[in-house]
Amino acid sequence: MSATRVHNLAVSLDGFATGEPQSLEAPFGHAGQRLHEWFFPTATFRRMQGDDRPAAGPDDDDAFASRWADGIGAEIMGAHKFGPPGWQDDPEWRGWWGEEPPFRTPVFVLTHHPRPPLEMGGGTTFHFLDTSPAKALDIAREAADGLDVRIGGGPTVVRDFVAADLVDHLHVVVVPILLGRGVRLWDGLEGVEQRYDVDSVSTSSGVTHLTFTRRR
Ligand SMILES: NC(=O)c1ccc[n+]([C@@H]2O[C@H](COP(=O)([O-])OP(=O)(O)OC[C@H]3O[C@@H](n4cnc5c(N)ncnc54)[C@H](OP(=O)(O)O)[C@@H]3O)[C@@H](O)[C@H]2O)c1
Repeated sequence: MSATRVHNLAVSLDGFATGEPQSLEAPFGHAGQRLHEWFFPTATFRRMQGDDRPAAGPDDDDAFASRWADGIGAEIMGAHKFGPPGWQDDPEWRGWWGEEPPFRTPVFVLTHHPRPPLEMGGGTTFHFLDTSPAKALDIAREAADGLDVRIGGGPTVVRDFVAADLVDHLHVVVVPILLGRGVRLWDGLEGVEQRYDVDSVSTSSGVTHLTFTRRR
């Protein structure tokens, strides 16, 4: 059976995976780019930008970051990752990532305002679903054709999938900043560590990579 995986989900020390308010100008709200400064110098991020130069500095974070795409056949993301508040009213909105998004697989956007699929360059097609996490996962698994399904965020969707016990592998990057407000990952997930084996590695950028692997 294909696995369900979360990668590179950055959270502050106080557990926020995005700040507020989210907008077109500030997709992470008052968090700005602080949650992802560890990611920008990695070879993986550079490749996503079409930049083949090696990493800008020590690249111990890339051992984690690069797992993002391996063996993935589909992604599921939330409506608030796909666009800023109000994108549902804009028929021209095609996501943040330009005409050739980095996903290169079918991507299922969970939204209460579904629309027809959007075929993008490079193999990405956005499909819009208004359904439960379990049903969305069935649909994504079928599209992934034996490969794994990535839950791409944001925190609300990851939390819902973890709460429904649908996630096999969860990679969270704890960034040593305090945001104080935004959207929390961990609310309602008390005791979740009991379902997983948990590993922790700190890197030279100052972040800590936590990997939760579901116990069989
Ligand atoms: N820290 C990180 O690594 C990371 C990673 C990815 C994204 N982000 C950031 O996280 C933020 C978005 O996260 P978020 O938690 O605010 O929202 P989200 O998880 O992206 O989306 C949640 C929304 O998706 C829709 N939705 C979720 N489940 C649904 C279902 N079963 N059926 C139908 N619709 C459903 C609902 O929107 P509607 O009711 O509006 O349809 C819901 O409010 C953005 O700022 C993004 O940049 C951070």
